Amino acid sequence: MSQHIHTTKDGSSTLFSEKFDQYYHNPNGAASESLYVFFEQSGLFRSLEKSDSLTVLEIGFGTGLNFLLLADHLKQNHIQTSVDFYSVEAYPISKETATDINFTDHISDPEITDALPQIFDSLKPGMNTFQPFDDLELSLHLFNGFFEDFNPSKLSADFIFHDAFSPEVNAELWSDETFNKLAGYSHSDTILTTYCAASKARAAMCVANWYVAKTRGALGKREMTIASRSEEKLNDFKRLNESRLAERYLNGDFE
Ligand SMILES: C[S@@+](CC[C@H](N)C(=O)[O-])C[C@H]1O[C@@H](n2cnc3c(N)ncnc32)[C@H](O)[C@@H]1O
Repeated sequence: MSQHIHTTKDGSSTLFSEKFDQYYHNPNGAASESLYVFFEQSGLFRSLEKSDSLTVLEIGFGTGLNFLLLADHLKQNHIQTSVDFYSVEAYPISKETATDINFTDHISDPEITDALPQIFDSLKPGMNTFQPFDDLELSLHLFNGFFEDFNPSKLSADFIFHDAFSPEVNAELWSDETFNKLAGYSHSDTILTTYCAASKARAAMCVANWYVAKTRGALGKREMTIASRSEEKLNDFKRLNESRLAERYLNGDFE
């Protein structure tokens, strides 16, 4: 799959996908948006300070930026929490692209960024497990294949990073089937975050019985979405009308 490297406004790289006709990240700041949506608004940074172990599930490994940001945070803050990071990627980037992308403005430790080309170089179809850093309790479980074929046993994620391309071009990852499948990998306190604010995507979450809320988006975007299996987890956010959105979805209002 052809991808071209671009530098976003915060200095971090992103890719442009010819296949999906879309950037992998917000051109106003790849690392800045990732940190805001998946680490700050989700509460993951706070949870890392008080948990012995955590499990993250990401939809769309892409450039590996979220995994690297997590590794960097653990390292810079001397956090010894044991983290299992699951991710899924159908179209892995090449080792060469992984070498050329640049996250050094946000990830200062070269040991972290240097791990990326090695990961892509040794990737095999199906599930791959890596423990790239000797001094961190961080395991990467990277499924090289379609999310539709992803079928791990005993996965119960505390945080879900929904980081697919937009619903217009990557519709299968925003369907009620997908959010039902994600519900099967969650527990009552799981938090799912995404940069996406599309009503159709939110409604698909509602059909799959997620509670859904909105909050301010990153870098001047009006909104992003945060969902959970428990209502209390969304107390700090503005809840949406789940039953109304589900009804509209099932009526075909978003077709
Ligand atoms: C927006 S990008 C992910 C960005 C990534 N989290 C990062 O930080 O670079 C979406 C990713 O989802 C992958 N993808 C799209 N459809 C998929 C599918 N059905 N199954 C697995 N991966 C898919 C794409 O190849 C792409 O790498």
